[in-house]
Amino acid sequence: MGARIIGTGSSVPKTCLTNADLEKRVDTSHDWIVSRTGIHQRHVVTQDEDILDLMHEASLRALDASGLRAEQLQAIVVATVSGNYAFPSTACLLQARLGLDNIPAFDVNAACAGFVYGMSVAHSYIKSGDYDRLLLVGADTLSTMVNWEDRSTCVLFGDGAGAVVLDTQNARSDDRGLLSTVVESSGALWQLLHVRSDHRQTVDQEGSHPKEWGIQMKGPELFKVAVRALSEVTRKALDKAGLSPADVSLMVPHQANLRIIRAVAERLHMAMDQVYCNVQDYGNTSAASIPIALDEAVRAGRVRPNDILALCGCGGGLTWGTSIVRW
Ligand code: ACO
Repeated sequence: MGARIIGTGSSVPKTCLTNADLEKRVDTSHDWIVSRTGIHQRHVVTQDEDILDLMHEASLRALDASGLRAEQLQAIVVATVSGNYAFPSTACLLQARLGLDNIPAFDVNAACAGFVYGMSVAHSYIKSGDYDRLLLVGADTLSTMVNWEDRSTCVLFGDGAGAVVLDTQNARSDDRGLLSTVVESSGALWQLLHVRSDHRQTVDQEGSHPKEWGIQMKGPELFKVAVRALSEVTRKALDKAGLSPADVSLMVPHQANLRIIRAVAERLHMAMDQVYCNVQDYGNTSAASIPIALDEAVRAGRVRPNDILALCGCGGGLTWGTSIVRW
């Protein structure tokens, strides 16, 4: 029994910072940012915006696209590292916002790979037969965790939320739906990318911090691990589904960096027209990046019935994983 994605939705904050805006804040340039990352702009939350608003809007759009009512959901899983509370989870807050009760709601913390980890949970839930219809959200506001004086990190991240509704609808009668998911972690590599949970500040808040404040990243090392991990785990997930990279109609990777995406495609011998990229418009939105890209691809008509999709992500933990879906 497979899980079918029957609706997608997404939402980003209203404030958009271009590379030219960042040139006014730190010693950087549009050309440097584009040549090293492919990013042109990113949307970021300000003090009057909350991650819950983005999650709620993305969820309503996904529900609308699915044709289901919120009351028909049987579980809510949110992939995020940006909740405002240690507890309750953002999933419980979203559940209340959606007016739902007496269904499980919880968060998954796997940073930029969170959405794929969420797919793994959804896959297991649905396969076990315990639940038929789930809402899976990927949402993050990493712009609140960067040091806005650190040019090596502040140019990379943006905020947003993406959501999918998963259902067993028709999944028993054909082979469409989630085919396989492989997730892996390497705690030994945690120091390549980390941030303390009490380092939070929106872009419009005043305040100077030491260099050690906010997201700490060993960029070049991370780059190499990301390329290797993403290509290897995608091969493993395809193998598990009895497929090869040539069968992939569209890879929807975590949108961290265009050079990482290109290098992964190259290792998998995929052409770039097999890969969906929107990193130029949003930057790295962490757990939100795959579902935002998927939502855009679906709404742009890039995904057709029976297409094979590879959804892959890598992030802090380190964590990584790939889901293979027959649309
Ligand atoms: N503007 C201008 N110059 C900069 C900037 C900037 N924004 N940031 C760094 N530099 C400078 C550095 O100070 C350095 O200068 P130096 O040579 O005088 O010391 C020079 O540029 C080169 O720095 P590197 O870090 O070696 O640059 P690199 O080519 O590796 O690119 C980058 C940096 C873009 C961060 C790259 O390493 C990368 O993408 N790594 C992966 C990081 C990532 O994606 N993290 C997200 C989370 S993990 C994930 O999602 C997969």
